[in-house]
Amino acid sequence: MHASSAFLDSVPGVQLSPALAATGAYPFVKLEQAKRRLAAAGVDLIDFGKGDPREPTDPMIRRALAESLTEISTYPLAEGLPELRSAVAAWCARRFGVGLDSDTEIVPTYGSKEAIFLLAQIVVDRESEKRLVVTTQPGYPVPDRGATFAGADVERLPLLEEHGFLIDLDTVPEETWERAAIVWLNYPNNPTGAVAPVEFLRRAAELSREYEFLLASDEAYSELWFDAPPHSALEVREEGNVAVFNTLSKRSSMTGYRSGFVAADAELIAALKQYRPSVGTAPQEFVQRASIVAWNDEEHVERTRDAYRRKREALLPTLARRGVRVAGGGATMFLWLEVPGAESSEEFAARLLEHGLIVSPGTFFGPAGEGYWRVALVPTEAECRRAAEILEQVL
Ligand SMILES: Cc1ncc(COP(=O)(O)O)c(C=O)c1O
Repeated sequence: MHASSAFLDSVPGVQLSPALAATGAYPFVKLEQAKRRLAAAGVDLIDFGKGDPREPTDPMIRRALAESLTEISTYPLAEGLPELRSAVAAWCARRFGVGLDSDTEIVPTYGSKEAIFLLAQIVVDRESEKRLVVTTQPGYPVPDRGATFAGADVERLPLLEEHGFLIDLDTVPEETWERAAIVWLNYPNNPTGAVAPVEFLRRAAELSREYEFLLASDEAYSELWFDAPPHSALEVREEGNVAVFNTLSKRSSMTGYRSGFVAADAELIAALKQYRPSVGTAPQEFVQRASIVAWNDEEHVERTRDAYRRKREALLPTLARRGVRVAGGGATMFLWLEVPGAESSEEFAARLLEHGLIVSPGTFFGPAGEGYWRVALVPTEAECRRAAEILEQVL
């Protein structure tokens, strides 16, 4: 018996996975608890915490979902509907100028989170010397957690402001690249909003070829930009071993639908198609049919970007007036801001919470997030204006 296992009192002898203990509570669970406490105390809360869009899903997409409900419901196949794979390939061609074979190089996923979490199960041999998964921090915790559950080693490289929140590829020790099975990138980046230049993506792809690892690029925010459309690692796939993960969650405000895809070379996609039926994470076919409509349309995405732009503009003048520096970049639904004064990130976030503003302390995304706070622009524009008035008083 493991000495550390205080688990399942009702079923003696059953152990918790050590990986579960190692990962701890998902940080946003803590925020949810604080939110309930304050709501119960009657505090009027504006929630800039979790990045769950509250923009309406376009009526055309909702209609497509409703019209696709069938009398008889069967299991969706892991390979997905050919029409959806074709719509994704056509979108990648229009958006990034790349040609993908929709039969062999794309697989639909149940949102992108599960696919990001599960990748290490397929790509890492836990008995091998080459079992390192490289992730970045501050960052989205799911690649790390998935790697831990898969028995991989995890190394979290810091994203520093002085490097534009990009991995400083030239200073990473050669030994790290040599041990790496997967290197994760996430641009546009959650939480920093940073965007990766195509030269950076190309160099990372070249390294993946030189050191024989998979470059896994989480591009969940590729469509939420305010300056110029960000690049995709798909554009450099000829230079290395590249797998791209994207989703309709943020692009089309469809978090609840659970619809994304992985695009990669045929060998990896075949492995995913072999593995995924065991997990059962294919999106429902009515969701796939609604997804086709979503990938085929850009107008609703432009409207979504405009909505986020207006929310940014509701807050930025106040922040500037109160001397809060925007540290992060110009994409995603997030503002990555420097904590003013001497408070820690958590102290600062706790203080805002008492005034009804829920924000994430930078440390939720790893120790490199200390000194920063993240605002997820998910409340309404009116709430953003009200928050600006509160910040005017509090900062
Ligand atoms: C960086 C990043 N990647 C992936 C996801 C997963 O989104 P979904 O599973 O809804 O596609 C999120 C969600 O918040 C995210 O922030």
